[in-house]
Amino acid sequence: MTQEKISLPRNRDYMAEPILDWILEGIPRSVNVKLFDDVGFIYEAQLAKMELSSWWRNLDEFVKRAAYYEQVNGEKTYHYHFSDIKGKDQIGRSNQYLTHWYYPYKAKFHPQMIKALINWMGLEKGQKLLDPFSGSGTALVEARLIGIDSIGVDVDPFCTFMSKVKTDLLDLSPQQLEAVEFKTAFEYFKSFKGKSSEAGLGRFVETNATPKSPFHGLDERIHDFYLLSYLYALSDYTYIKRKMWTGFVENTSRMIKSIRTFDALKRQLNLQMGGVQVKNGDARFLQQAGVGKESIDGIVTSPPYSIAVDYIALDLHTFKYLGIDPQGLQDKLVGLKGRHQERVRIYFEDMKLAFQSMYDVLKRRAYCAVVIGDVTFEGKKLSITQKFIETAEKIGFRSINLIRRPILGGFARLRYEYIILFQKP
Ligand SMILES: C[S@@+](CC[C@H](N)C(=O)[O-])C[C@H]1O[C@@H](n2cnc3c(N)ncnc32)[C@H](O)[C@@H]1O
Repeated sequence: MTQEKISLPRNRDYMAEPILDWILEGIPRSVNVKLFDDVGFIYEAQLAKMELSSWWRNLDEFVKRAAYYEQVNGEKTYHYHFSDIKGKDQIGRSNQYLTHWYYPYKAKFHPQMIKALINWMGLEKGQKLLDPFSGSGTALVEARLIGIDSIGVDVDPFCTFMSKVKTDLLDLSPQQLEAVEFKTAFEYFKSFKGKSSEAGLGRFVETNATPKSPFHGLDERIHDFYLLSYLYALSDYTYIKRKMWTGFVENTSRMIKSIRTFDALKRQLNLQMGGVQVKNGDARFLQQAGVGKESIDGIVTSPPYSIAVDYIALDLHTFKYLGIDPQGLQDKLVGLKGRHQERVRIYFEDMKLAFQSMYDVLKRRAYCAVVIGDVTFEGKKLSITQKFIETAEKIGFRSINLIRRPILGGFARLRYEYIILFQKP
């Protein structure tokens, strides 16, 4: 028997070609795009197809916002440049770039995926995105980068602080960040360790026993950046016993380096970023948090998985340092109230309130994307995805699509999470 020789195409990205053919079905042949080499999962191809379907008629704009494409019309996309500003533990083009890596928050979603969802929704400049469970601020950073205004709401003051620093950093220059000596900043925050702080995330109250603040007269965003650097070092010390000073210096200088690169890039691209508001509030009562009725053009969010993961326990060292009362917070966090099956019941009740609240603040015909996984609680798998669809539909949402995403790594012992897409009719 003669063996047929297979000739592999040379100099071509033959792995991605069949995927690209599928993505481009029904789109004019003149549309010239190249996927990132690491697009390999089915959900990534789905999202790449969805974002292109909303933007292929305006490729000049798509270059600026595409998430899964390396090139559009032969030009490198902005995502290529942003994701080139590498952060710790980055995987390909999907996460941890620019300011996303700043603080090892456990429940972040992938920024690349979020950007594609915002694109699919077709949000344009002047329109407003909301993340009512904004966590570490991933969606807010992405919205800013593509010029969309956004509002983030989170009940945890440390989360709103983190989101603020990560979105504010995009406006700061390296010169501003270098205005304080590392050692002085570190010693200043260290002097408050172990003291019960009245200040929480505001300014620390200086006493005779603490050094004078090196941040007097400076933009408060500089203080907040160094405080987050300190909390990052504290987290690493708590979990991996990394020396705090070593971690502080490494992270701070790496972030300043990233901001230097981004500063130059902003000028080169003439980048117009979206505005952002971060609010400390409750997703179940968004109007009370200051989000207007029917004022929002799109929602992207990931509600707490905290029924299975105790976020408070994870960040207890931070709360202690900042003087935040964990018990007071526990009562407001969705997913942490009650015990055993009672906890599950209260979780779904709270989420029903949150869905109603999201529905009320959304404009008609606007979209809402919810990322969630079916966690296992006390040995039983909860059909959270199905329950959310039923709850949202009862309120009036129309379900549009369900995308499944595999999870690598062990977060909450999930194999998959789901992106549920709704529309307010
Ligand atoms: C899965 S995390 C979101 C992570 C976020 N997508 C990110 O990329 O960082 C869920 C968030 O919901 C917040 N949360 C819990 N209960 C809340 C409530 N009642 N209102 C607003 N936020 C709440 C938690 O503090 C947590 O930050």
